[in-house]
Amino acid sequence: MKKKKRKLKKKVKFLIKLLLVIIIILIGILYLLKRVNDQKKYEETYEYKLTMKGYSTDDVNSILNKLEDNEINDLLNIEYNDLIPKLIKEKYFLFKNLNRYITYYEKNKKDLNEVISLVNVNRDCEYYENTKPADLTNTDTMLVNKYYYLEKDYVDSELTNISLSYAYAGNAAAKRVIDAFLTMYNDALKDNIQLIINSSYRSYEDQDEVWSNRRATYGTKNADNYAARAGYSEHQTGLALDIGQYNYDGDDDNLPAYEWLANNSYKYGFILRYPEGKENITGYSYEPWHFRYLGIDLATKVYKEGITFDEYYAYYIEK
Ligand code: DAL
Ligand code: ZN
Repeated sequence: MKKKKRKLKKKVKFLIKLLLVIIIILIGILYLLKRVNDQKKYEETYEYKLTMKGYSTDDVNSILNKLEDNEINDLLNIEYNDLIPKLIKEKYFLFKNLNRYITYYEKNKKDLNEVISLVNVNRDCEYYENTKPADLTNTDTMLVNKYYYLEKDYVDSELTNISLSYAYAGNAAAKRVIDAFLTMYNDALKDNIQLIINSSYRSYEDQDEVWSNRRATYGTKNADNYAARAGYSEHQTGLALDIGQYNYDGDDDNLPAYEWLANNSYKYGFILRYPEGKENITGYSYEPWHFRYLGIDLATKVYKEGITFDEYYAYYIEK
């Protein structure tokens, strides 16, 4: 009886051991299967695919942070080039311009942030080359420059004559622009600066005359630095004002009004459109008098961003 009991005990012990071994083997198999599965899954991730292409962990993080899925897929079809991750890390990088950045960089060898700014505003094309009609979906945010034009007959629907109290004769602008200017005019007066509008809306024909006269006197290059060709002027939008200072006896090139406007105009919806040092971006010499109405929200954003409207438009509006 005792012997039988011992035999049974031994048998149970053996079975338990066997079960444990089977369990351990099963766990091992499951673990291996999981690892194979995890690896397979990992190989499907952008992280793995980008790493295999040659991108570092840091590059991969930037790519995943900045690019959309379809852009990453396109990137995976492009040969790795160490310029690519450097470009992607730049603040104003736009994926759609990647090939143009590379071509421009190889030709011009400028700093990458400059390459990006210039290509974003189409400076890899000559002025007045590859032009497009301005997008009029939201009139106040439209971009008109040497690459974006207005049709000959374009006129703002709110075009209104400007009172002689604060403009020279013959001036007109969009009504909302005049209202914004008036508020600004009154606030500037409190700082002893009397603003005056020298020029504002110009029709296609008026602009043609401005440009042609300048060209006749100073030649094409000079005319292009100071005046837009007909159809390419912000003055035709009815949203641009050339502002001076009334009754000021000092240096005409250095009006206190210019400094006041540069610092304050955004609060009323205007931005300095052709800043000093940005001639290669805007295509125009510094014009401390030329202000463009964008509305307070957008003007404030552009002012705070510290970039030209051309650059802002390319990155935040057109994309
Ligand atoms: N002076 C500016 C650039 C114009 O002619 O539109
Ligand atoms: Zn102007």
